[in-house]
Amino acid sequence: MKLVAPSILSVDPANLPEAIALAESSGADYIHIDIMDGVFVPRKTWDVSLVKQIKGTHTLFNDVHIMVEKPWIVGPEFAKAGADNVTFHLEACQNEEEVRKTISLIEEAGAKASVSIKPNTPIEAVYPYLDSVYLVLIMSVEPGRGGQQFIDGALEKIKTLRKKIGDSKSPLIEVDGGINATFGPLCYQAGADILVSGSYLYGHPDFAKRLKGLKE
Ligand code: DX5
Ligand code: ZN
Repeated sequence: MKLVAPSILSVDPANLPEAIALAESSGADYIHIDIMDGVFVPRKTWDVSLVKQIKGTHTLFNDVHIMVEKPWIVGPEFAKAGADNVTFHLEACQNEEEVRKTISLIEEAGAKASVSIKPNTPIEAVYPYLDSVYLVLIMSVEPGRGGQQFIDGALEKIKTLRKKIGDSKSPLIEVDGGINATFGPLCYQAGADILVSGSYLYGHPDFAKRLKGLKE
């Protein structure tokens, strides 16, 4: 599958409706919403009110990526607010029990649940959850901000995970950070299904052309 999820991280909140409409009219599949708590990562971004605000205003899949501590508390709040999928970090959990609890609580609150790993976490860490999650999000930059350089090691992780799950469409493989015209195609070749892209798309007059280019 070749899906694109524009990340609105760099968008001015005042321009959010236009930014989402642009993604929609350009053929995006998901809208990627980055939530940071100022603890798990230094920066703080939107809260649940943003997801509530945009719910029902567009047709894209609300892909919420929470970079927060205690995802078992925060995750279900986003599910209730209207997220279609909530992806949390394995590094925010102490053990498998916390991960499984978080997945269940997000699902009970009405969303799909997914896990993400940072660049230094080995891909094998997600193996116990492959039957239980909607997607696996492989970070190709340190989470926390947009506009960083793609870390090559992510390609190897995508390949390894693709081999492990075969052609199955579950879970989907998503990659986030530093995606552009060079690294996007390499990620698809390695076996990724969904590319998250922020600074390569937003702020450029040829947004739609760039997005279509990523999907080719
Ligand atoms: C980073 C976020 C990303 C970010 C990607 O922590 O998870 O979704 O918006 O931005 P770019 O595409 O600029 O690397
Ligand atoms: Zn993200």
